Amino acid sequence: MINFKLNDKPLQVEEGTTILEAALAEGVKIPTLCYHKDLTPYGACRLCLVEIVGGGRPGLEASCVFKATEGLEVKTDTERVKKSRKIIFELLMARCPDSEKLNKLAAEYGVSRSRIHLKQKENCLLCGLCVRACAEVSERHAQSFSGRGHRRTVDTPFSKISEKCIGCGACAYLCPVKGLKVQEAG
Ligand code: FES
Repeated sequence: MINFKLNDKPLQVEEGTTILEAALAEGVKIPTLCYHKDLTPYGACRLCLVEIVGGGRPGLEASCVFKATEGLEVKTDTERVKKSRKIIFELLMARCPDSEKLNKLAAEYGVSRSRIHLKQKENCLLCGLCVRACAEVSERHAQSFSGRGHRRTVDTPFSKISEKCIGCGACAYLCPVKGLKVQEAG
């Protein structure tokens, strides 16, 4: 078992437990967008940032992928966390201004608009939920990330309708911007 502190509260968790899992079990609220309990955590959206304040290298970490270690001290709502989280919300909102899920979550954390303006809005937050659902739930691997930096996108091989897709709709169901259309199986 691992002993660590979350918001000054001593906790004991099983080895391999992430900070987010420990926080959720304690009823501590942390915003997440790319996390799903049944999928491998990916650490893409960065909304789940927490601050390591003792027992480890100090700094901000994505709690969905950061595991509790012996003696670690973590805080979930420091000024630094709040400031960084706000900027991340604004960046994501600039990318996908029409995402109802994102806007609702941002409002819960006091962010009602983005001061960032991008030339082109996107219809994808690059959260990777669709890619993971396709690979881990449907076991089809019909889509994946492609490109780097600002060219990064989720796509099917050669941008063609994938023969691997069975039209299960898991990707579309999980997409936080509802940006996916399910192709007919066949
Ligand atoms: S929920 Fe942790 S990075 Fe997205």
